Amino acid sequence: MNIPLVDLKLQYAPLKEEILSEISKTLDGMHLFLGENVQALEKEYSAFCGVKHAIGVSDGTQALHILLRAFEIGPGDEVITVSHTFIATAEAILLAGARPVFVDIDPHTMLMDVSLVEQAITPRTRAILPVHLYGQTVDMDPLLSLASRYGLAVIEDACQAHGATYKDRKAGSMGDGAAFSFYFSKNLGAYGEGGIITTNDDEIARRVRMIRDHGSAQKYHHDLLGMNARLDELQAVVLRAKLPYLESWNEKRRQHAAHLNALLKNAPVWIPFERRENCHVYHLYVIRCKERDELLAHLKEHGVFAGVHYPIPVHLQQAVLDLGYKPGDLPITEQVVGEIISLPIYAELTQEQIEYMVDEIDAFYA
Ligand SMILES: Cc1ncc(COP(=O)(O)O)c(C=O)c1O
Repeated sequence: MNIPLVDLKLQYAPLKEEILSEISKTLDGMHLFLGENVQALEKEYSAFCGVKHAIGVSDGTQALHILLRAFEIGPGDEVITVSHTFIATAEAILLAGARPVFVDIDPHTMLMDVSLVEQAITPRTRAILPVHLYGQTVDMDPLLSLASRYGLAVIEDACQAHGATYKDRKAGSMGDGAAFSFYFSKNLGAYGEGGIITTNDDEIARRVRMIRDHGSAQKYHHDLLGMNARLDELQAVVLRAKLPYLESWNEKRRQHAAHLNALLKNAPVWIPFERRENCHVYHLYVIRCKERDELLAHLKEHGVFAGVHYPIPVHLQQAVLDLGYKPGDLPITEQVVGEIISLPIYAELTQEQIEYMVDEIDAFYA
């Protein structure tokens, strides 16, 4: 049996007719940028998240970058985040000209350890950037109250957490602003690049809209230094066709996770830890084990294409060496990156595939 990490063909088949017909209409109209589909998606996604504004952008990396710029965070400023994330989180901070300051993670959730944030605050700190990695939100209430005590902005990296909730509040609705990615393999993915920014702040929304379109609110009048980071109409068509299914796809992922948890109960691996106040949407189902590389190779040999998200922590990446971090600085982060395996968890996965994966894990340990 072959089980890929994601299988988008299965998701596309039932949506194909609708998507192709809407794409065809859009091409007939040839209104390709910031048209009716982007505007409608922005309304639909803001309603989905329960926020005032959603602003479509070119991708998740630029969503983070634009938000930081909208908050006027730049050279001389520090932003507290985690190293156990995709490089884009730190890249966006560096693109804005600011410095990422990394705190370690909680070993159970593998998310920002909120108890370590206060000691990382300096007079240069301007924002905290929690990452809702794998589809589960950071413990937001203590983080939000810490940020408000110190007058810091909270920018959520919700790029992996479409539809996740914390105490019934949606990811992307809790901080001062949030960034989502529509990279093709996300729980809500485009057929190309895409992203969206959510916020309840009218002034930030106004600035974000301008920055994504060359700093302009009126054609050829550029009041802010911006960039070209618009979401295009064709991607908005795809995302609008998929959005009504997101909750049910997330629910399927949760059911698969519960099934995997039950089947893996006796295996010598750590299963994902979901906090009581969270609704985890399992963008990734990540187990931990001591024999990671051997298990990964065994699974691959038997057709299970698991992944590692991510094998090298950001603070030890060549690209950011000049930040001055060294091995040993973030011990929990450095330990878990050698132990994690992401098992396939897409909505269309079958019971047989799930049982086969677990049988192969059991066979490895036998
Ligand atoms: C946690 C996290 N942050 C940021 C990004 C960047 O998003 P994009 O790939 O759309 O630029 C991603 C996407 O892979 C991500 O997983």
